[in-house]
Amino acid sequence: MGIYLDNAATSFPKPIQVSEAVYNFMVNIGATSGRGAYEKAMESDRLVYETRKSIASLFKQDDLKKVIFTSNVTESLNLAIKGILKKGNHVITSSLEHNAVWRSLKTLERDIGISISKVPCDEYGYTNPDDVEKYIKENTALIIFTHASNVIGTIQPIREIGFIARRYKIPFLVDAAQTAGVYPIDVKKDNIDLLAFTGHKSLLGPMGTGGLIVNLDKDISPLKSGGTGGDSSYEYQPNYFPNRLETGTPNVGGIVGLLEAIKFIQETGIDTILNKEKEVLSYALKRLEEVEDISIYGPKDIEKIVSVITFNLKDKSAEEVAYELDQNYDIMIRAGLHCAPSAHNVIGTQKIGTARIGIGYFNEKEDIDLLVDALKKINNQN
Ligand code: ALA
Repeated sequence: MGIYLDNAATSFPKPIQVSEAVYNFMVNIGATSGRGAYEKAMESDRLVYETRKSIASLFKQDDLKKVIFTSNVTESLNLAIKGILKKGNHVITSSLEHNAVWRSLKTLERDIGISISKVPCDEYGYTNPDDVEKYIKENTALIIFTHASNVIGTIQPIREIGFIARRYKIPFLVDAAQTAGVYPIDVKKDNIDLLAFTGHKSLLGPMGTGGLIVNLDKDISPLKSGGTGGDSSYEYQPNYFPNRLETGTPNVGGIVGLLEAIKFIQETGIDTILNKEKEVLSYALKRLEEVEDISIYGPKDIEKIVSVITFNLKDKSAEEVAYELDQNYDIMIRAGLHCAPSAHNVIGTQKIGTARIGIGYFNEKEDIDLLVDALKKINNQN
């Protein structure tokens, strides 16, 4: 089966009950949700409702109607960004954003003339929340921060930034791609107006699932128009949630898998999951130091990062390292820019990229031992 260390890209394996639930839905239920009154369609409705409820409870969102299903965090971020920003608006964002945010903003800058301010951070990815305030202008319409960098792992001071956004009544959008499922997130306490998440990373669900929590009283223009299963003679997208932002046949097969994944997380306990990841992360940070000529980027403090470690070996490219690990040692990691060139600008690796390991709940210290042994051999160390 090999050693899977690419959990920041997508978690693997998933709890077995996730695949069982998807299989059961595909084989025994199969009907669409929100579009039929026969029993199987009602069962499909019930499963979607249960999932909405469980996501709302996980992120402490009161209004179930404002839990919007999407196909991934990229769609959630596009929905929030394009649904809120208008011509002439100004937006503030971090220096560590993934292309889901950055390309969306650059496209709006080019096409409708928004302006963008990037809040600087230090070489470890730390942002001083007070710096965010310095960039606020009369026309600032959105503040967007990743909760944690997918490249160097740095966790951002979300609650403090959200507090500033609240004071100025500017909507605050958080990209929780790397944290949802493994870090507790409370949209109210953390001052989050819009929370974008994906189902297939630390939430341990299937690909093709994700969502946007709307904790905000403001219209968001839909990204798509189409059938919502009701009010079909009305010629425009409805004004009520979730239908305003959810269109077309939902991915019910994926959603039921996500429901089981969240049950697994709640039964296991987010704290247990986080502590296990931190234990392996701490072990990895320590053991990787044994590899000669390794450069590890970002903070080396397990309280300040999610469980990713990004590195380079002196005499090999990141791609060579990843290729050799896969071909000769059956160890899977990701190399390159990780769709987040901004973060590489921060650590100075924009031209060379990095090799990255992403630790998940199912990794063990033995996986790290095998990785370190393999890296030493790749490095001709023994
Ligand atoms: N899926 C992207 C990654 O690998 C974001 O980090």
